[in-house]
Amino acid sequence: MCGIVGAVRREEGVLGALIEGLRVLEYRGYDSSGVAVIKDGRMLVRKKEGRLENLEAALQDGALEGASIGIGHTRWATHGEPSDRNAHPHQGRSGRVALIHNGIFENYLELREELLADGVEFLSETDTEIVAHLIDREMAQGLSLPDAVRAALRRVQGHYAVAVIAEDEPETPLVCARQGPPLVVAATPNAAYLASDVLGLLPHTNKVVYLEDGDVAVLGAGTLQVTDFAGQKVEREEHQIDWKPGDSGLGGWPHYMLKEIHEQPDVLARTTLERMDLDKGDVVIEGGQFGNEAMRAVQRIQVLACGTALHAGMIGRYLIEGLARVPVDVDFASEFRYRNPVLTAGTMALAISQSGETADTLAATRLAKELGAQVACICNSAGSTQVREADEVLLTHAGPEIGVASTKAFTAQVAACVLLAIRLGRAKGTLSADRARELLHGLRNLREQIEHLLSEPVREHIRSLAKQHARAKGFFFLGRGVNFPVALEGALKLKEISYMHAEGYAAGEMKHGPIALIDPGMTIVAVNAPGVVADKVRSNIEQVKSRGGVALSVGSHQGSHKIAGQCIEVPETDEWLSPILNSIPLQLLSYYIADLRGCDIDKPRNLAKSVTVE
Ligand code: AGP
Repeated sequence: MCGIVGAVRREEGVLGALIEGLRVLEYRGYDSSGVAVIKDGRMLVRKKEGRLENLEAALQDGALEGASIGIGHTRWATHGEPSDRNAHPHQGRSGRVALIHNGIFENYLELREELLADGVEFLSETDTEIVAHLIDREMAQGLSLPDAVRAALRRVQGHYAVAVIAEDEPETPLVCARQGPPLVVAATPNAAYLASDVLGLLPHTNKVVYLEDGDVAVLGAGTLQVTDFAGQKVEREEHQIDWKPGDSGLGGWPHYMLKEIHEQPDVLARTTLERMDLDKGDVVIEGGQFGNEAMRAVQRIQVLACGTALHAGMIGRYLIEGLARVPVDVDFASEFRYRNPVLTAGTMALAISQSGETADTLAATRLAKELGAQVACICNSAGSTQVREADEVLLTHAGPEIGVASTKAFTAQVAACVLLAIRLGRAKGTLSADRARELLHGLRNLREQIEHLLSEPVREHIRSLAKQHARAKGFFFLGRGVNFPVALEGALKLKEISYMHAEGYAAGEMKHGPIALIDPGMTIVAVNAPGVVADKVRSNIEQVKSRGGVALSVGSHQGSHKIAGQCIEVPETDEWLSPILNSIPLQLLSYYIADLRGCDIDKPRNLAKSVTVE
């Protein structure tokens, strides 16, 4: 979704910081970008459709150099096509005010009518421009910038994060407000910064303040003040961020996705190792979270998530029901929130999210809380809204994930689900210490096993398979049991980055309809591991092969490899841990296919990293 940055500095030279911030936020996905600065008391704006390079070219004349206040934006179009004129910042009628925005102003049509009647001429098709005019109008009536922002925002409905600058406001150079999408602010001795994502602040400081819904922040060079929409001062805590600016760089890799796939041995170790108590055969989560008392009270779990995180939650259902005997429902967050759900007493809502800022997941979790659920989350972003609103938190410690296609965050989420299943099983007495120890040892061995999967010969083998299948008519990814969601995730990864049609399906369901699609142009990727459904999956592979499909078997089940003909051998592990290992070749297969097809792997078309609107 849209990226927002802003800076005010005692010394001149804010443009470089804005572009650097936008560069860091590029991964969120965007279709145009723009900046506004105030230089010598005058508002100067540049905006361009397309990549940041287009904006940089438009800044070559140096006219915006030397300003000490500015805002910058990467836009992901919602209202109005991607174009120069719809790009942000937008200005009010007088040209004094410039505003950038992430989110949606829902009542923009009626406000537009009101402004049209007032003689305002609109230069764009966006909902954003309306609010720039509202602020401008308030300032024309004598309000200061912060008061004008508060007054204008009291008139709008919707979810938004905005940042605004105005000419002739030396005391309050930069104002931002949050009602929904995230905003992070920070003051250093001689400057202050804002961004829609903590990564945008890391080049300047690692001490940040997360704004809450209903906050308005006023930033000056070295100062920061937060109020509510009525202007009352509110206190917000400063958080120290462990991520370093270098964590979000490419570090010599051709793509973030490949870099992040290769980080998985370390990530899995970070997620699991320090939480293992091998003596007791148990899991200990920092700060006494997920303790015995809270876990014994859990009668049912409702997983809420989207996309890849939902697939991790589906694996979590098999693990938790299998090991802890607690019933688990899994729902798309976007469906749960509108289906008037019934939650029974003792329900724990478990939100799973890499970013912790996904609008649907946040809304669904808030609804579950309203309905009386205790709220837990598995999340990768320590200071995120999801984490701040949860009662129990299990951080995945995967480090910043920049590639739009989630890889390391997914396997870390699955590992976190294993930890949670063990914790619940031990607290409830359904899992013996010995069985828990076996699983913990299995988790400990994953690092070496993943390193093997990422070794040159295995990667080369996967690359050669990618060459053979890169022109297939379509793909089916099949799996059963705990590996069924792995098949769903394999298909999602491939379509996200290669734009090939791929479907994930429960292998046993193929014969109930989709098998009609099988012909020699279709590639069937079957995921299997020794265990209860292994032989069933092998028969399902036989069924599609005998109808002309080309089968590729992924996993450690030799019988499936033999039937399929082509295979990617995965080291053997406990069946409950096999989703983690089986996912890795699927990530590489998608990566190589997308690369061979010349796709923009880290910035796939139409996608945004963090989906902060409905
Ligand atoms: C994964 O590759 C995605 N691009 C997407 O499905 C993502 O997992 C989903 O939007 C949820 O994001 P979150 O984990 O940040 O909540």
